[in-house]
Amino acid sequence: MKKQDELFAGKAKTVYATDDADKLILHFRNDTSAFDGEKIEQLDRKGRINNRFNAFIMEKLKAAGVATHFEKILNDEESLVKKLEMLPIECVVRNISTGSLCRRLGVEEGLDLNPPTFEFFLKNDELHDPMINDYHILSFKWATGDEITQMKALTFKVNDILASLFRDAGMLLVDYKLEFGRYRGALLLGDEFTPDGCRLWDIETRKKLDKDRFRQGLGGVVEAYEEVAQRLGVSL
Ligand code: C5P
Repeated sequence: MKKQDELFAGKAKTVYATDDADKLILHFRNDTSAFDGEKIEQLDRKGRINNRFNAFIMEKLKAAGVATHFEKILNDEESLVKKLEMLPIECVVRNISTGSLCRRLGVEEGLDLNPPTFEFFLKNDELHDPMINDYHILSFKWATGDEITQMKALTFKVNDILASLFRDAGMLLVDYKLEFGRYRGALLLGDEFTPDGCRLWDIETRKKLDKDRFRQGLGGVVEAYEEVAQRLGVSL
């Protein structure tokens, strides 16, 4: 497997082509961004932690029957993935109210959401990822009706798998974002699953163990990611 040209540099990852047209390399950088790229910092060890953490979660999801783009870890900061045709949509499931949900709806922080709630957002930094609904997705042909059904079912299936995985390790999976893409006629989970794209709270103290530590300037960001990895048994 040969690494070729850089295709795209996102806020925290760089994507490279390979000599296999169906495969890409994801490089998890130490860059950490928030507020649509307004706040960016380099956090030592974060690329490596996220690469290993993501591989661990992707393997768990695969074992539980969720098809993902993940192929294998290549080195400390890089993984090999299938090349998907990504849908420009973010799927968010929330088990506890916080973040943009509270800002938008004026609801109290920390409420248990039963059933968990589901939201679609359009992936567009300039527009600050506006919330969209099924009809927007259909009218603008961002995905098909069948893909909408699958995105919801898969995102909730991931919730069942991961909420219990984190609970067993003493953490609450508060909310998270997933993205999907097409591959040979199937819809696969793409992108990553790391504490950059989810919220995790300690089950007893509700201490934040995710990127909110960075967004809110609480400090100890990488240490919190390491603690999450350690509790799950991810080897760093
Ligand atoms: O900001 P908000 O409360 O809508 O975020 C919900 C969840 O989705 C959080 O876990 C956040 O980390 C994640 N998210 C993300 N990327 C975005 C927007 C949200 O990973 N662009």
